[in-house]
Amino acid sequence: MRKNIVAGNWKMNTTLDEGVELANEINEKVKGIKRNCEVIICVPFTHLTSVNAVIESENVALGAENCSEHDKGAYTGEVSAAMVKSTGATHVILGHSERRQYFGENNEQLLAKTRQALANGLTPIFCVGEVLEDRENGSYNDVVEGQVEALFDLTAEDFGKLVIAYEPVWAIGTGKTATADQAQDMHAHIRKVIEGKYGKDVADNTSILYGGSCKPENAKEIFSKPDVDGGLIGGAALKADSFMGIIEAFN
Ligand code: 13P
Repeated sequence: MRKNIVAGNWKMNTTLDEGVELANEINEKVKGIKRNCEVIICVPFTHLTSVNAVIESENVALGAENCSEHDKGAYTGEVSAAMVKSTGATHVILGHSERRQYFGENNEQLLAKTRQALANGLTPIFCVGEVLEDRENGSYNDVVEGQVEALFDLTAEDFGKLVIAYEPVWAIGTGKTATADQAQDMHAHIRKVIEGKYGKDVADNTSILYGGSCKPENAKEIFSKPDVDGGLIGGAALKADSFMGIIEAFN
C-alpha cells in the first residue's frame, strides 16, 4: 500500500552551514518521535553530500531539487541523475512549477529527466499543478491531467516508482492554501487518470502529496483526506519546528 510522506523542498535557501545545521536538527527531532510517515528533505545540489553525512537514512531520506535530462557530457553547469545518486540521495524533485515557469521546462524534458532519475535508481517526486487562471476558468482538471499524461510513455513498472506532488501554483508561497476538499478532489482525479492508464494497483499504490502553503495549522485537515498521502513543503520546511509540526500531523 502507498506510503505517507512528508518532504521538504528547501528551494534556493540556506548556505551550506545553515543547511547542515537544519538537517542535523531535523534528523535529531525525527529520531525522537514515533511517526507515521516517511520524511525526505530535498536540498540544493551544493548541500547534498554534507547533509547526507549528518542524517541517518532510517530517519530522514535525502533528495535533490532537479537533475539534468542528459546522461553526462558537455552541459556546463548541469548536474546529472548519476551525480545526485552518488551523493547518497535517493529522491529528486522534478517538474516543480518554478522550474516549468522560470526555466521553461516542458513535458518532453521532464519525461527525459524522469527517465534519467529512474535509470539511476532515484525516486522522482514529480510535481503537477495549475496556475490561478486555470483554476478560475475551470480547466484545472484538464491541465493537471495533461501534466500527468506527459509521463505515460513510461512502463507501468516505472510509473509505479514515482511519487506525485500536486502543487496548485496559486497556493505556492502565497499563504493561500487549497482547501482540503479542493486537494482531495484533485488527488482523486489524478488517481483516476493513473488508473485509466496503468490500472488500479498502480493507482492505489502511488503516493500523491499536496504542496502549497502547507503548515502545521492546516496539515492535519489536508492529510486526513483519503487521497492525500502527505505533503511537499516549502517555506515551513526551513524551520525544524514547523517541519516537525507537519510530520506530527500524521500522528
Ligand atoms: P510553500 O510551502 O512555501 O508554499 O511551497 C510549496 C512548494 O513549492 C514545495 O515544493
